[in-house]
Amino acid sequence: MKQLIKKVIPRQLIAEIKARYEKLDILMIRFFSKNGFLASIYYAFFSQQFYREHRSVLLGRVAYEASLNRITNSSILLRRNIHRIEKGLIMQPRREVFAEGYIRETVDCFKKAIASDSLCSSEKEWASDVLQKYFSVVSHTTVIENAKNTFLDATLDEATGNSVPYVHADLPTCPLDYDQLLTLFKRRRSVRWFEEKTVDMSLINKAVEAATYAPSACNRQPYEYHVVTDKNLASEVANCAMGTVGFAENIPCMIAIVGNLDAYPAERDRHIIYIDGALASMQLMLAFETLGLSSCSINWPDIELREKALMKKLKLAYHQRIVMLMAVGYAKPDGGIPFSQKKGSNLLVKEVK
Ligand SMILES: Cc1cc2nc3c(=O)[nH]c(=O)nc-3n(C[C@H](O)[C@H](O)[C@H](O)COP(=O)(O)O)c2cc1C
Repeated sequence: MKQLIKKVIPRQLIAEIKARYEKLDILMIRFFSKNGFLASIYYAFFSQQFYREHRSVLLGRVAYEASLNRITNSSILLRRNIHRIEKGLIMQPRREVFAEGYIRETVDCFKKAIASDSLCSSEKEWASDVLQKYFSVVSHTTVIENAKNTFLDATLDEATGNSVPYVHADLPTCPLDYDQLLTLFKRRRSVRWFEEKTVDMSLINKAVEAATYAPSACNRQPYEYHVVTDKNLASEVANCAMGTVGFAENIPCMIAIVGNLDAYPAERDRHIIYIDGALASMQLMLAFETLGLSSCSINWPDIELREKALMKKLKLAYHQRIVMLMAVGYAKPDGGIPFSQKKGSNLLVKEVK
């Protein structure tokens, strides 16, 4: 259709129409940005830019509700509540009664999880150990006593008691100093020219095991890495983005960092997939460096046609949102690296007094 319009209407006229439309749009956005209600009208009737986000957030909420009754390899509710209980356990001073408001739903979820073959064993063990610790220190109200009985009925036999809070002094000492860390950071540069060499999945998995130590809100880790190591498919995925022109065909492995909006019951948390996904991806890129691999973050634009195309290729559900893409491979030694000057702390740090 676009091509047909381009053939029939003279170029000059198309440019004029475009310029007039842009002017009108600027006038409209000045008006519709006056308050939240008008802004919603603008995005309901004059622009579809938030179309996918609105629907995927709603579908995420629907999927969250459904997930409460269906245990898969990970339970979002269990992860969040066990995390909250751990925070209660380390509170200074620790309260005599805590988590009373959600201990019932937590043990009910735990019971379902234990009965399920799907939930991964380390998550089961973590939940079991933390609940065991909780019931051993909390003062017992009726609600807590009843929850404890449900917990004892369901307790996991192979729980070790190891997956519980510990003190800072028990952490491993840091084997790196500032300069060594700085070298690793300097070594990670965006690489766009790769050797023709397949990236082994075992290396990807190893890097992901390190990335997983990144912080995430309520320890939900609401992201997945969708990995393509087939070169042709990797190029196809890379071509779905806009920022790979000229080097898409050269990429041996593409990773799509995908955020799961079914991790949240409320809209207010819809941005967390991007924060958690990005924090873990930074660690992933650094881990790749230590394994001899290089990477380049690739922007994922929120453009409906591209979203549809990649969603189909990666077989994603509508509530799964692509946070970013990442090209991975073995850097060509003679491949160029942009200098990419960095802003100094004098520009970035604003001391607040
Ligand atoms: C979110 C994000 C999106 C990016 N998108 C692209 C992209 O589409 N194409 C590209 O060639 N580089 C992309 N980059 C890489 C940046 O250009 C690069 O990180 C920046 O210029 C700094 O260079 P450095 O990574 O070597 O420090 C992206 C980086 C980030 C963090």
